[in-house]
Order: sequence, then C-alpha cells, then structure tokens
Amino acid sequence: MTQRTTVVTLPLELRVIETDHTYPVKDDIWSNWYTFGLRAFERLRDELKQEGRPITSFATTGTSNGIDAIAASLVFENLQEVALIDLDERVVPVAKQNYLRYFSGKNVSAFAGSLLEPLVEKGITADLIYANLPILPNGGDLIQGYRRSSRYEKGLFAQAKTEDWIKNYLLEPYYALLLQAKDVLTPRGSVICSIGGRIPYSVIEQVIEKAGFKTQKLLTGFKVQTEPWEVLPGCADAEKDGVTFDFYRYDEAVAALRNHRLSSGKILEEPFMDLNKEELKKIIEPYKITAKQAHEMYLKNNYAKIGHVVHIVRAMKKD
Ligand SMILES: C[S@@+](CC[C@H](N)C(=O)[O-])C[C@H]1O[C@@H](n2cnc3c(N)ncnc32)[C@H](O)[C@@H]1O
Repeated sequence: MTQRTTVVTLPLELRVIETDHTYPVKDDIWSNWYTFGLRAFERLRDELKQEGRPITSFATTGTSNGIDAIAASLVFENLQEVALIDLDERVVPVAKQNYLRYFSGKNVSAFAGSLLEPLVEKGITADLIYANLPILPNGGDLIQGYRRSSRYEKGLFAQAKTEDWIKNYLLEPYYALLLQAKDVLTPRGSVICSIGGRIPYSVIEQVIEKAGFKTQKLLTGFKVQTEPWEVLPGCADAEKDGVTFDFYRYDEAVAALRNHRLSSGKILEEPFMDLNKEELKKIIEPYKITAKQAHEMYLKNNYAKIGHVVHIVRAMKKD
C-alpha cells in the first residue's frame, strides 16, 4: 500500500499521512470538508463560551485520516477525551497516528466500527460528536480505494428502521447516527453533521426533528463536487418520485457570487459563508441543475466543474 505525507492548511500548516484508503486531502482548501468543519467548530466554541460550557470530550465518526479531530482539538482548548471512529479498519491506525503527531497529550481512542457503535458498546460518552458520512446506499465493491467515503452497503443501518422519505433524500446514515447519539451524548451535548445541501434545508430539519433533536445551522457555504464519478451517478439514480438533488454549474455560480456585493460593500470569497442560505441559493439559482443533468455534463466532459451547497448543522439533544 502506498503511503504519503501531505501538508494541509487548517489554516496552520500540518502534515498528515495519507494512504490508498484514506479520504484524499484536496489541494484547494475549500474543496475539503474538514475546513468547513473547522469553521463550524469555531462558531460553536464562540457560542458555548458565552454560555460558559467547555467541550471536554469529542467523538468523530467517518474520520478517515483524523483531520477533523485535529481541527476540533485546535479549536476546543479544553478537550481531554477524543474518540476516532471509521468503518474502514484500514484507516483507523492512520487517523490515530496523525492525531497523536499533534496531540500526544490527549486521551485518544480509535475504533473500527459503524457510526457510534463502538462507543455505545463501551459506554463512552461525548459532549460533541462530528460526522461526515457517505450518503449513497448503492454499494458496489466498497473495498476498493476509498469508496466507503461515498457509498455504504444497503441494509447497514436497518436497525434504525428509517422511513422511506428519509432514505429517498439520502439521509438514512445521519438519521441512524442521531438515534445512536442519544446514548452517547452527555446532557446538553450535540452532534455536528456535515451535509451536502443538495436537498431542501427543511428536509434536513425534519430528519433531525424526527430523530428527537433541535436544529441549529452553524454555517452554509458552496463547494465543488469532489468524487463526481461516484456522487453524480449515485444521486442521479436516487432522483425519482419527485425527489431531485440540486447541483450547480460551478464556474458560473462562483462568478455570480464573486460579483455580488454585500450591503457593506464587501466582496464575497470562497466558500461564500457570509451569506445566509436563502441569499446564497438565490444568487446561484440560474445555474442550478439536477443530478441527472450534472451527471450528463460530467459524462460529456470529465473536467466540467460542478458545485453544491454545504450545510454544517448542529443537532441538539432535547432534554
Ligand atoms: C467523506 S469521508 C470523511 C473524511 C473526513 N471526515 C474529512 O472530513 O476529511 C467519509 C468516511 O466515512 C467512513 N464511513 C463510511 N461508512 C461509515 C459508517 N457507517 N460509520 C463510520 N464511518 C463510515 C468512510 O470509510 C470514510 O473514511
């Protein structure tokens, strides 16, 4: 197996080990998920500071190379206990090694397992859980490379007995995660979900509510669709019974966003987090395409850039 060390910017420069099975770090900083996660952690930290509530325990599931836990530990200064989880057992030691390079003094445990199962089994709790999960249930050979980053075996979350409307919007993994989180979160704890905003935001809220949580949006931004060869056909297949997934012609959407001026005169820059979700979607509406159209565009030109909205949402336990 090949192994390489990649320099990432968080904005600090860090070195992480990557392998054939870890989720690849992208050169363009805003093409990654962890950068959105980092900004969301900062927003939450500032909010909790006012409430005088430090986060001391953190768990991340779907961590891959562990970079999301590094980001959390840079932001939440009081973190003591950290749990790293990934379903792919090949990445778990890599995540732990990357994490310990920067935070050898923390109490870190790393587990191979689905969602939060290892924590439930061991009775481990966390103040904050972070999740960035695959959404496509149409399997295939998941052992290859890092395919588990986008896809999961149909039936993996059967225990959650997820209703069809949630599955149709490809939110089954997040619903199953939230149900498990109830047994892991400390009182007043919360889950941060990194979710592609390819579906109406109200659906995300309804799923979180159905799982028994309150929703708080931490941020919305715009990102290029990475792994288009996996995600676009997967979402195109899921477009049925009136459900569509929103993608955008990236270059035109970004040009429109850059040309937009806030009332303060400020020029917007990637990843366009200064706008609220309604403003953002209104500006890029003319460049909106369905998953099927985006997939056709990609098949005609593999270099065509396609974008999607990102929501980082906090699900708060209703106590
Ligand atoms: C998109 S990658 C996320 C990478 C990382 N969190 C980041 O921000 O760069 C998704 C990860 O979820 C893992 N995964 C897939 N299904 C999972 C499950 N049921 N439970 C836990 N991890 C899962 C994959 O192996 C992959 O490493």
